[in-house]
Amino acid sequence: MLEFLLVIAIVYIVIIIYFHYQYPELHWDWEKINIQKIKFSNSFFWGTATASHQVEGNCNNNNWSVWEKSKDEEGIPRIKNNQKSGLACDHWNRYKEDIELIKKIGVTHYRFSLEWSKIEPIKGQYNQESIDHYSNIIDSLIEKNITPVITLHHFTNPIWFDEMGGFEKEQNIDYFVSFCEIVFSKYSSRVKNWCTINEPEVYSVMGYFAAIFPPGKKQPQLAVEVLKNLLIAHTNVYNSLKNLPNGENCKIGIVKNIMQFDPYRRWNLLDWLVCRIADKIYNGITLSYLRNGRININYPFFVKINYKSDKAQLATDFFGLNYYSHSHLKFKFDLYEFFENKFFDSDTMTDMPYVIYPEGLYRAIKEVEKINKPIIITENGIADSKDDRRGLFIERYIYAMNRAIQEGANIQGYFYWSLMDNFEWAEGYDMQFGLYEVDFKTQKRTLRNGSNKFVDIVNGSK
Ligand code: GAL
Repeated sequence: MLEFLLVIAIVYIVIIIYFHYQYPELHWDWEKINIQKIKFSNSFFWGTATASHQVEGNCNNNNWSVWEKSKDEEGIPRIKNNQKSGLACDHWNRYKEDIELIKKIGVTHYRFSLEWSKIEPIKGQYNQESIDHYSNIIDSLIEKNITPVITLHHFTNPIWFDEMGGFEKEQNIDYFVSFCEIVFSKYSSRVKNWCTINEPEVYSVMGYFAAIFPPGKKQPQLAVEVLKNLLIAHTNVYNSLKNLPNGENCKIGIVKNIMQFDPYRRWNLLDWLVCRIADKIYNGITLSYLRNGRININYPFFVKINYKSDKAQLATDFFGLNYYSHSHLKFKFDLYEFFENKFFDSDTMTDMPYVIYPEGLYRAIKEVEKINKPIIITENGIADSKDDRRGLFIERYIYAMNRAIQEGANIQGYFYWSLMDNFEWAEGYDMQFGLYEVDFKTQKRTLRNGSNKFVDIVNGSK
């Protein structure tokens, strides 16, 4: 018996040592780092990003507008303090003024999304006014020498599409592809950079596992099916746009959020186990799909999916990387939510439940380099209403990115999230990511002090 226990103990220790070295949690000594020294090549570009539902206002015909009015089973409103996106930043009407603000900080690229529900409010019927609206934004950007970067899907669906089952059904993908073809044919002579789908893993995990985003389901199996469908949608959109006029001259890529899952207790095998599972679902499915067209996951009683596409491989011109932070997971005895997110006293928190962890951006870059595609940092930013950590966040994350570039990473540009404070999904207006602070009563925008760090880097790094 004693021998048996001894063998178990040895095996346990060997596995822990293996994990420990296989998945190190990187930490740099910031005291010894000279951030001032960073330089970027002339071809490196800087930008800032938004998404339609978060800034435009009056997005009354999509899944989020329905979600904002709804409550959960216990009668609790879905959005913190029952907030509604409402007029948001009124970017729909104020885009010219906002383009001036983009120009003022010195960036050359603006990433924004098209609101599908405004362009195709009824299945198959396109709204000319909305098509013209985005066309005017594109012209205004180009006039100011700002390169437009369009996201085709950023979390929102028209209500009619959701009523048909949205991305739960593989056969619905064609509706999305048709919408993409229409807008691409309108704008692709002027817009050369296209993001297909923003964060498919966030859309599916938040909507179908955590139930924090619409449709608020808690069905892990459905979550991975939806993720698979979104990845297929990316591939189908990529292939069909490439075949349209201008397709070959445009860069079309997917945008993925990377988050590392590190064990809260590095000696605890159960913590390691939940981290490996979370990583495989959240990051692994998409990365494996892009690498070889395969999705193979089999966690008995939880999720199972085996899929092989022959079209997926290489079907992206760039990898759009969104990065915010990592998580420390602790195993929990609960059949459904078998882990919890934990923090250490030493963590420097942002206003979101994210720690400041620039090393994670470096780790994420190393991970996605394996896809072998040019990388664009399509989102990175901090919610910091007091504006007392923004400057530090910006300089350290940009340092981490620069370090990866010095070591050979092919990163072409960086977008700060976000141009201005906006409707932060389930958190409403409480989370303030903006370079510009927005007074939502007057719609006045004011550049934050901490954002000057970004302005300085953008204007002085070449
Ligand atoms: C991303 C998302 C953005 C923004 C950001 C900040 O996941 O793409 O729309 O909300 O997070 O939390």
